[in-house]
Amino acid sequence: MPTNMSIDSDTNNLGCDENNEGEKTSPTEDSCLDQTLAHHDGETHIQMTERLRRTGFSTQSVHAGEKRQKAEGSISAPIFTASTFTFDSTDSLMRFVDGKEDRDEYGRYGTPNERTCEAKLAALEGAEEAIIYSSGMAAIVGLLMSRLSSGDEIVFFDQCYHRSREFCSKHLSRFGVVTRQVPTGDFDAMEAAINENTKMLVSESPTNPHLTAVDLEKFVALGKSSEVETLIDATLATPFNLRPIDYGVDFVLHSATKYLGGHNDLLAGVICGRSDALKPVRSLRGILGSVNSAHNMYLLERGLKTFELRMQRHNENGQRIAEFLENHPRVERVYYPGLKSHPTHEIAASQMAGFGGLITFLVKDADWKETSRIVDAAKIPRIAPSLGGVESLIEQPLVMSYYHCTPQERESFGIYDNMIRMSCGIENADDLIADLKQALNAS
Ligand SMILES: Cc1ncc(COP(=O)(O)O)c(C=O)c1O
Repeated sequence: MPTNMSIDSDTNNLGCDENNEGEKTSPTEDSCLDQTLAHHDGETHIQMTERLRRTGFSTQSVHAGEKRQKAEGSISAPIFTASTFTFDSTDSLMRFVDGKEDRDEYGRYGTPNERTCEAKLAALEGAEEAIIYSSGMAAIVGLLMSRLSSGDEIVFFDQCYHRSREFCSKHLSRFGVVTRQVPTGDFDAMEAAINENTKMLVSESPTNPHLTAVDLEKFVALGKSSEVETLIDATLATPFNLRPIDYGVDFVLHSATKYLGGHNDLLAGVICGRSDALKPVRSLRGILGSVNSAHNMYLLERGLKTFELRMQRHNENGQRIAEFLENHPRVERVYYPGLKSHPTHEIAASQMAGFGGLITFLVKDADWKETSRIVDAAKIPRIAPSLGGVESLIEQPLVMSYYHCTPQERESFGIYDNMIRMSCGIENADDLIADLKQALNAS
């Protein structure tokens, strides 16, 4: 379980070790619950995140970044719709511009609702800082645009979300950035592709839609020995299942549209990392203007409160449904990192706390039409792109994201006519299995 919190079931203490005389013995005085959750006047979000890191996952997602006493005593987050924030005097403005006061000024540079979510996400990720964007793609574009200049190169593993690949190969090139793709997990090829212009190594883990886990120790070791920054898109894993920063990855990226938001009702993206490395990234975000409405951030904040509970169910459902599919006679192959049959199962098992809710599978001896009949016969999952929400979703990549690709392109991306991708929601696994059984049998 990816938590650094200890719960003593007798005393209900969270990481606060007191002896009988009430003296604090370990680990540190300020890991006591009251001190952990009290709002400290003048404390920055980064300081609060640091303090909350000593508590457990749900404690962080419920409380990090929030003032103990909010406006009008509201327990839920007030939604600040303001585009601009006022100063009561020139003195107060000077305190802000001199960096003596941590507050908001103008919505393109940040808002209270965004900052609360950023603090929660930084705490969950174990990062110094997080920066929120209006979508996962905006986060990728924002990060790469701020770290790369004409003449620089990046090397990325080729299994990835198709729009990330498209941005790297079609658009970064227009700004003179060279992108080199190498087969996922082939560290020799990655090393061979690195040269003196290389600035970043990029990978997903697990990858979309093949669920390949990338060995983060090797990835980071290669980045460090080559003096090149590393970026992991951990959208499919989430910080509940994978902690890339603990391995030394420089930047961790998520489409918060997926598990972090968790309810298929918002778009957002986030980049986590060290504050020094993120400084130019935040600065460019303020120019790009990839920001979020306060209402969107309220939804993300609300979704995050149940993050741990949802992930436990996604992991449970994913594992059970993958095992069911693997044993079904109509299924040729299942891509799920929690199955021993997945080529990267060992890597996934060694670095992940659970394997998530996304499953890709191939239907045995089926053409694209037979495959689509199975998708159509499923009664619980809805046909839609995306993943990570409470509602299960199902899709045939051929007719969803890859419809406009040539057969040769699809072949090179490993997208087959008989492929189905299912995002297991939080419904009851027995119901999802019964539904898939009738869909596979009916068509
Ligand atoms: C792994 C991965 N990264 C990034 C993205 C882009 O996220 P968004 O749709 O929020 O822009 C996606 C979207 O599906 C994804 O699957």
